[in-house]
Amino acid sequence: QELQLSLEQIEKGGYDHFMLKEIHEQPKAIVDTYRGRMLPDEGIIRMAGIDNHMNKFLNAERIIIVACGTSWHAGLVGEYLIEEFARIPVEVEYASEFRYRNPIVTSKDIVIAISQSGETADTLAAIKLAKSKGAFVFGVCNVVGSSIARETDAGAYTHAGPEIGVASTKAFTTQITVLSLIALKLASKKGELSKSDLRTYLQKMQLIPTKVEALLKIDNKVKEIAAVYKNAKNCLYLGRGFNFPVALEGALKLKEISYIHAEGYPAAEMKHGPIALIDENMPIFVIATNKGHYEKVVSNIQEIKSRAGKIIAIVTEGDTQVKEIADHVIEIPETEEAFTPLLTTIPLQLLSYHIAVMLGKNVDQPRNLAKSVTVE
Ligand code: G6P
Repeated sequence: QELQLSLEQIEKGGYDHFMLKEIHEQPKAIVDTYRGRMLPDEGIIRMAGIDNHMNKFLNAERIIIVACGTSWHAGLVGEYLIEEFARIPVEVEYASEFRYRNPIVTSKDIVIAISQSGETADTLAAIKLAKSKGAFVFGVCNVVGSSIARETDAGAYTHAGPEIGVASTKAFTTQITVLSLIALKLASKKGELSKSDLRTYLQKMQLIPTKVEALLKIDNKVKEIAAVYKNAKNCLYLGRGFNFPVALEGALKLKEISYIHAEGYPAAEMKHGPIALIDENMPIFVIATNKGHYEKVVSNIQEIKSRAGKIIAIVTEGDTQVKEIADHVIEIPETEEAFTPLLTTIPLQLLSYHIAVMLGKNVDQPRNLAKSVTVE
């Protein structure tokens, strides 16, 4: 029998869609992002874009992160990371809002622009505005030589490799990897983190790709959950702390490719509105890792169950409490709380993927969306 493979099939490397391929590339993409930058056993992080401008970073009064879409969600994780470790105040702005609202920016600010494509028009305009006001602008881009990479004063590439699927996956986890390194590096330089603690964090970071790899193996379980909830009309995603942005990203992934309405919320904000939507038809994805305000999230889950909502919980391996009340649980391997977004994101990506495939949607090229938005 003649074997005929189209160029596209070859490019997809045996996967049905680019998105699935890119989800599975994440262990390697994360390694590619930190390789050569971190030396865990020595407790060293080398990032030329930061090292060459260290004084600017150490004297910065504030860091403003500008981005759009999934990159904005990575920026939110960056805010939690940089404030937690480096103790520098961070604000995260939608590039489109920042550029048009006459923001207060001075030469004491550092602006970090995050963009997979490096071509997003609003992000590029936000950078130009920040530069005109004297701020130092640092880029976190995936596409080498892109407009944003060229326009920024310094930067760090994510090295995720080409991302073809419109719904961003490996760009997100590699952006978070870069932001983690930046946060830890600045923390250590500022004396907020001891050398031995830095070493411990880096050793744990080094274990992340293997943990992502292990998580990708639970695909069948995620598929079963997808089959149960694929006809939902609305979904809610809840998380707290480092995993609040993951809830936003989980909801965005579902909206983008399956066209199911989904909202991400900080778990505690649920009582200020979304709780009114909860009934037996409402699937609620809750991130309840063991260190991240666990008890508080458990009580949020109880509130949902008492209103008959369906709970799909992402918990840490060995969890017992949530398992008893949730309708489904997905376990992630143990890691530092600050690194959990790199793990909790994975099942949510897979879930959106499977739901979209089951609904017969065009996963790689969803309607009305573009991979890079070069117009306003
Ligand atoms: C578009 C894409 C998203 C992406 C966003 C920002 O909306 O569909 O996946 O997150 O633009 O793109 P950027 O290239 O700047 O990260």
